[in-house]
Amino acid sequence: MTRRLLLVGILCTVGFLAACAKYGANEPGSKYGYSGSERCKACHPQEFASWQDSWHSKIVRPKVGAMLQEAVEKWSSDGTTPGPTVGNVTGQPFVLADVEYVVGSRWKQRYLVKNSETGNLQFMNMQFNRGSGKWEKYGQKNDWNTQCASCHTTGYRITAYDDRAGKTLKSEFAELSVGCEACHGPGATHARTTKAKDIFNPADVDIQAQTRVCGYCHIRLENEKWKTAQGNPREDFPAPKVGETHMPWDDWTQWYPTEVVIPGVQKNHPFNAEYAGDLKGLFKTDTLATTNGVFEEAKHHQQYQGFIQSKHYQLGAISCNTCHSPHAGSGKEKKASKETCIVCHDSSYTVEKYMPNTGKTADNLFVRSHTFAKNPREGGPGASDMGPPNYYGD
Ligand code: HEC
Ligand code: HEC
Ligand code: HEC
Ligand code: HEC
Ligand code: HEC
Ligand code: HEC
Repeated sequence: MTRRLLLVGILCTVGFLAACAKYGANEPGSKYGYSGSERCKACHPQEFASWQDSWHSKIVRPKVGAMLQEAVEKWSSDGTTPGPTVGNVTGQPFVLADVEYVVGSRWKQRYLVKNSETGNLQFMNMQFNRGSGKWEKYGQKNDWNTQCASCHTTGYRITAYDDRAGKTLKSEFAELSVGCEACHGPGATHARTTKAKDIFNPADVDIQAQTRVCGYCHIRLENEKWKTAQGNPREDFPAPKVGETHMPWDDWTQWYPTEVVIPGVQKNHPFNAEYAGDLKGLFKTDTLATTNGVFEEAKHHQQYQGFIQSKHYQLGAISCNTCHSPHAGSGKEKKASKETCIVCHDSSYTVEKYMPNTGKTADNLFVRSHTFAKNPREGGPGASDMGPPNYYGD
C-alpha cells in the first residue's frame, strides 16, 4: 500500500460520513490541510501515546470498546428505570445494535443513532450516569452534528446553511474527538516539511491566547448566528463563515458579538445576570458568591469562564497549560495537575479545598471549579470519587 492509500485507510476508520472522501483522498496538500492524529505518531510518539491515553482522544467513539460495560448490562433496565428506546428527533424506536457512536464515558455517556430525516446523528432518550449507575432522561432534540460537534471533533466546518429558514444543512470535520490539530491547527504541510514554522505551538503565544486555545471548548455559550438542523440556537461555536474552520490561534471572543452570548466573557453579559435556556443558572450567584465577588461554575464545560475570574489568570502569569499538559513530550512528563499547587503555595493549598466540585455534569456528579476563590464553598462528588470506567468488548 502506498503511504497515501494507507493514510486514506486510517482516516476512513476514524472518520465517517463525508469525512473520508473529503480529507483522506486529498492528502497531502489537501484542501483543508488536516492530516489526522495518526500521521503525527511517527515523529512524535510520546505526544501521541500520552494524548491517546487522555480523555481528549475519547469524547466521541464508535461503540465497540468504548461503550460502558455497566450500560450494556443495564440497557433494558437499571432496576428501576428502563434504558434508551427511541431517537429524540424522529421518535422512532432504536435498539442497542443501532447505536453507532457513544459520547463521553468518564462522568456520563450518551448514545448516537442515525437520523434518517437529515442524514446526521441524533441522540437516544436516556443517558447513563456513571456515579449513580442509573439511567436519566436526556431530551436533546437537535442533531449531534449541528449542536455539539465543534467541541467534540477536530477541523469542524459548516459547508451548507439555509439562511432563510435558519438551519445548518451540511457540516464536516477532519477527525472525531479532540485530535492533535484541534490545538495545533491543520498539520498536513508540517507533516511533510517537518518545519516548526509550519505548525502552531500554543507555548509560543501569550497567557491570554494560550488560555483561549482551551477556552474555545471549555466554555458555555448560546449561539443565535448558527442554528441546528432543527432550527434551534446552537450551543457550540462554528467559525464566522460557511466553509471555514476555527483555528487555535483565533480570538473567538470577538466573533459575531451581537449574535452569540458568552456570559462573563463579553462585557455586556456579566457573570451575575439572569440567563435563559441552556444558560439558565450557569453560575453560582448566591450570597457567598456575591461576597467573594467570584461566581463559580454551576454547570460543566465552563472552566474558561471560571478561570478568567481567578487571581491566577488576572495577574497574567498562569494559563491552563501551567497546570495541565495536554500530553507528554520528548524528555517531558505529563503534569499531574494536582501536584502543581505546591510549586507556588504552601501545602495548605489543596485541590480538595480550593477547587470544589461545583459544576453539575450528571445526577449528583460535578466538575471542579477553576475560580480559585479565597473562601471556597463545599463541593459535591466528582471524577476523583470514582475509579476508571470499564468498557464493553475491550
Ligand atoms: C515526518 C516527521 C513529522 C511529522 C509527521 C510531524 N512532525 Fe511535528 N515536528 C517534526 C520535527 C522534526 C519538529 C522539530 C522542528 C524544529 O524544531 O525545527 C517538529 C515540531 C513540532 C512542533 C513544535 C513546533 C514549535 O514551534 O516548537 C509541534 C507543535 C508539532 N511538531 C506538531 C505536529 C503535529 C500536530 C503533527 C501531525 C499533524 C506533526 N507534528 C507531524 C516532525 C514531524
Ligand atoms: C476542540 C475542543 C477542545 C479543546 C480545544 C480543548 N479541550 Fe479539553 N476537553 C474537551 C472535551 C470534549 C473533553 C472531555 C473528554 C472526555 O471526557 O471524554 C476535554 C477534557 C479535558 C480535561 C479533562 C480530561 C483529561 O484528559 O485530563 C482537561 C484537563 C482538559 N480538557 C484540558 C484542556 C486544555 C488545557 C486545553 C488547551 C490546551 C484543552 N483542554 C483544549 C474539549 C477540548
Ligand atoms: C462549547 C463546547 C461544548 C459543547 C457545545 C458541548 N460540549 Fe460536551 N463537553 C465539552 C467539554 C470541554 C467537556 C469536558 C469538560 C467538562 O465536562 O467540564 C464536555 C463533556 C461532555 C460529556 C461528558 C464526558 C465524559 O467523559 O463523561 C458529555 C457526555 C458531553 N460533553 C456531551 C455533549 C453533548 C451531547 C453536547 C451537545 C448537545 C455537548 N456535549 C456540547 C464541551 C462541549
Ligand atoms: C488539547 C490541546 C492539545 C492537543 C489535543 C495536542 N496538543 Fe500538542 N501541545 C499543546 C500545548 C498547549 C503545547 C505546549 C506545551 C507546553 O506549554 O508545555 C503543545 C506542545 C506540543 C509539541 C512541542 C513539544 C512539546 O511536547 O512540548 C509537540 C511536538 C506537540 N504538541 C505535538 C502534539 C501531537 C503529535 C498531538 C496529538 C497526538 C498533540 N500535540 C495534541 C496542546 C495540545
Ligand atoms: C505558577 C504559580 C502558581 C501555581 C502553580 C498555583 N498558584 Fe495559586 N496563586 C498564585 C499566585 C501568584 C496567586 C496570587 C497571590 C496574590 O494575590 O498575592 C495565587 C492565588 C491563589 C489563591 C487565592 C486567590 C485569592 O483570591 O487571593 C488560591 C485559593 C490559589 N492560588 C490556589 C491554588 C491551587 C489550589 C493551586 C493548584 C491547583 C494553585 N493555586 C497553583 C500562583 C500559583
Ligand atoms: C492552578 C492550576 C490549574 C489551572 C491554571 C487550570 N486547571 Fe484545570 N484542573 C486543575 C486541577 C488540580 C484539576 C483536578 C485534577 C485531578 O483531580 O486530578 C483540574 C481539573 C480540570 C478538568 C477536569 C474536571 C474535573 O472535575 O476533574 C478540566 C476539564 C480542566 N481542569 C480544564 C482546565 C482549563 C480549560 C483550564 C484553563 C481555562 C484549566 N483547567 C486551568 C488545575 C488547574
